[in-house]
Amino acid sequence: MAQSLVFLGAPGSGKGTQSKLLSEEHGFKHLSTGDLLREEIQKKSPLGQRVDDIMKQGKLVDDATVIDLLADRFQGKNQKYIIDGFPRNEDQAKLLDERLFKGKGYAAVFFNMETEELVDRLSGRITCRQCGAVYNLKTMPPAKTGVCDKCSSQDLYQRNDDKAEVVSERLKIYEENIRPVLRYYQNKGLLTIIDAGQETSTLR
Ligand code: AP5
Ligand code: MG
Repeated sequence: MAQSLVFLGAPGSGKGTQSKLLSEEHGFKHLSTGDLLREEIQKKSPLGQRVDDIMKQGKLVDDATVIDLLADRFQGKNQKYIIDGFPRNEDQAKLLDERLFKGKGYAAVFFNMETEELVDRLSGRITCRQCGAVYNLKTMPPAKTGVCDKCSSQDLYQRNDDKAEVVSERLKIYEENIRPVLRYYQNKGLLTIIDAGQETSTLR
């Protein structure tokens, strides 16, 4: 397998934004566990119906459901991936190694950022329901208000887990779980930490 990347970081740290840019430019396949779960909710599949409430509350979906969803999207071993939003805890990190990467080459990238700025970013995020493009009303608005630059859809919406009370729950859960994950990758010599507070173009 070619070198893949695992993106770790708080809600709003820019994992999805950088994943999309890198995938377009460097041929990674972008797998965001949050996006995959939201697709299931949009389809109203049995899985989607089961996880809808959990995600609305900002809580984590169970490990088995998420790793299975990810495994379903894995293609041939020559594909290089960006795994965005997984793992969220140490058990998930082990599952990723055992079930999908099996000792193949990858690097883990931690998007490090101050909480205050995360809240600010999430409050301004809007997403295109048609193509998934992500904007920010303050830092990265679409060229024409309410219209997606990529697919011209006028269906730009705020994620229901970006409401202030849900954001604080998501940040709390993130803080409770991230340290062992970082230690896991640090011990393997696979961890790179980046300053995610920089401008999008600088990060790239
Ligand atoms: P998920 O969708 O993964 O959400 P998240 O991890 O909370 O991360 P976000 O998507 O909110 O942030 P991001 O880092 O992608 O930031 P973005 O690039 O959009 O997960 C949602 C839910 O699904 C979870 O709560 C859980 O319920 C479930 N789930 C998912 N994975 C799971 C797992 N592994 N196990 C269990 N449950 C799981 O950027 C944010 C905003 O900032 C945007 O508006 C963007 O335009 C702007 N922005 C980005 N970069 C910059 C920059 N450099 N400067 C200025 N603005 C910027
Ligand atoms: Mg995201």
